[in-house]
Amino acid sequence: MVLVGCWAPFGALWVVWAAAKCAAMMTGGRVMRFGVDFAVTAVRRRTDELWPGTPTPLVLLLLGAFIFTTTALTWKIWRHIANRRPAPDDPIAALADNPGLTALKPDAAAKKAVALRRSLSGTTPARLSPDEVGLVLGEEMLPGKSSGATLFTSWEDTVVAFMAPRSGKTTTQSIPHVLSAPGPVIATSNKADLWSAIATVRAERTRGKIWLFDPQHITYQLQDWWCDLLSGLNTVEEAHRLAGHFVLTVADDQKKDLWGPAAQDLLCALFLAAATSGRTLHHVAQWLDEPAVPTPIELLHTAGFQLMASSLKGTQNGAVETRDGIYQTARTATKALRDQEILAWVTPHDDLPVFAPDDFAASCDTLYLLSKSLSAAAPLIAALTDLTMRAAERRAEQSGGRLDPPLVVALDEAANICRIADLPQLYSHLGSRGIIPVTILQSYEQGVTVWGEPGMAALWGAATRKLIGAGIDSPRLTKDLATLTGQHDVPVRSITYSDGRASQQISLRRQEILEAADIRALPTGTALLLATGTKPALIRLRPWYTGPHANPINQAIQTADTAIAAAARRHYSTESPVDLSKEPPLH
Ligand SMILES: Nc1ncnc2c1ncn2[C@@H]1O[C@H](COP(=O)(O)OP(=O)(O)O)[C@@H](O)[C@H]1O
Ligand SMILES: [Mg+2]
Repeated sequence: MVLVGCWAPFGALWVVWAAAKCAAMMTGGRVMRFGVDFAVTAVRRRTDELWPGTPTPLVLLLLGAFIFTTTALTWKIWRHIANRRPAPDDPIAALADNPGLTALKPDAAAKKAVALRRSLSGTTPARLSPDEVGLVLGEEMLPGKSSGATLFTSWEDTVVAFMAPRSGKTTTQSIPHVLSAPGPVIATSNKADLWSAIATVRAERTRGKIWLFDPQHITYQLQDWWCDLLSGLNTVEEAHRLAGHFVLTVADDQKKDLWGPAAQDLLCALFLAAATSGRTLHHVAQWLDEPAVPTPIELLHTAGFQLMASSLKGTQNGAVETRDGIYQTARTATKALRDQEILAWVTPHDDLPVFAPDDFAASCDTLYLLSKSLSAAAPLIAALTDLTMRAAERRAEQSGGRLDPPLVVALDEAANICRIADLPQLYSHLGSRGIIPVTILQSYEQGVTVWGEPGMAALWGAATRKLIGAGIDSPRLTKDLATLTGQHDVPVRSITYSDGRASQQISLRRQEILEAADIRALPTGTALLLATGTKPALIRLRPWYTGPHANPINQAIQTADTAIAAAARRHYSTESPVDLSKEPPLH
């Protein structure tokens, strides 16, 4: 401080001299040499001797400009340094130093993509387009509000994301993932937003077909295909899986626990009887209304499923209360089959193409599965997703283990509309087959209601990338995450006065990097990323509207929303519902 105090007058004097020199150069005047004489003359304020022939007002003006520029520059540099210097307990700084994240950064992720995808072998990793590298998770958060490298999933990761409503599930996850996927995509949604935003944009990019499953007319589009859920179903195991999707949607937990397994067996037998005899789900619905009808038993006998036939006979001939309980639960589970509009999607139409899951797995098509939350159509969405994923698995097996290009399965609102019973078990091997599931839930508890505590724990354990976004209110999850994020030492300064002297001490306090309350209060647009094998990281999510396709998507949304709104108005303004066959197709 003493040194600065001593040198400051000389510095100030030099600035005055420099301003005078500049003014002299501009006006052709002269300035005294900088030195002791200049200082003495300046103290005497003899401006005519200091800068003869140079106007003093100009010198003062330049001096003012110099001082202003220097002050502004110093302030800016100071602010920059202060911003970059994090507070001692800043969690972003504590988590920023994470060498484990290197594997998720563009260079390493591109190398891994080349290694995993046969079609890319021989390509220089640096030349890969970001879409080929992986799905974008977000950007690394660095101290001082700056963002680091983009972080990608690899083509063998499985992702689960937890985010509250309106916190970016669709804008930061589903839409960017579906848009960037290089191969086939299955995308579920309970609203038209996903489809209206990217159906056309993606179809133009990939030249793939759009398969829109919308039995509840969320988008007011005409049905232009159908799917045969019974096609190729010729084993008890497959029939049991299909039955499981229906039974899992029974809302009454007590009934589900009591009659669920028997109802699943019953449906399994009926599905198998229909599939092996060339009948349809329409027949299954009829058989469920007539518990004593012998036809399915005979059909099972004919197809060689003697044990299933006798099991069905046992159910039909059991105590009346038991039989009615089982049949009633099975009817509740299959309420989709009593809705003509929903049933139309899964029963044959001669004039419409049939969805072929095996061809889909080898294409760049997109399957949009829309249904309102917890609706009757939900089991069909789970069944279609499962059917397509299994077709993709078969294709992966035939092509040496991995599907290439990979299948991206974006299960937005999974707990409400896509309850695949064994999703937690599938998670442990889907990644290794080149099928990348991204399950998006509103909370951990929402998953527990679908898959139960052990199932949800299995899903959590098997997901290699876990994202926890804004609005997670579960005290248990936030506490667990705080523990998983770990602790750090925070320096604490304390100043004590004694005997007229002040002394400063710095001690270290060990505290959690992120407390449960901090995780609960994560701002929208940020998330905590738990990637296998690395420390947790804070990342900034990347919504589509800040990405490179924002303009075409905005236009697509406008066009689609206008058309949907017009169709909705026509629908509600007339007594009879709008005839969709007269509506022009949007995409
Ligand atoms: N084009 C846009 N520009 C700016 N903000 C948007 C845009 N589209 C959506 N948002 C906002 O992004 C937030 C997250 O939306 P969304 O991803 O649909 O939520 P959810 O988690 O329910 O799927 C909302 O607050 C929404 O208002
Ligand atoms: Mg959404």
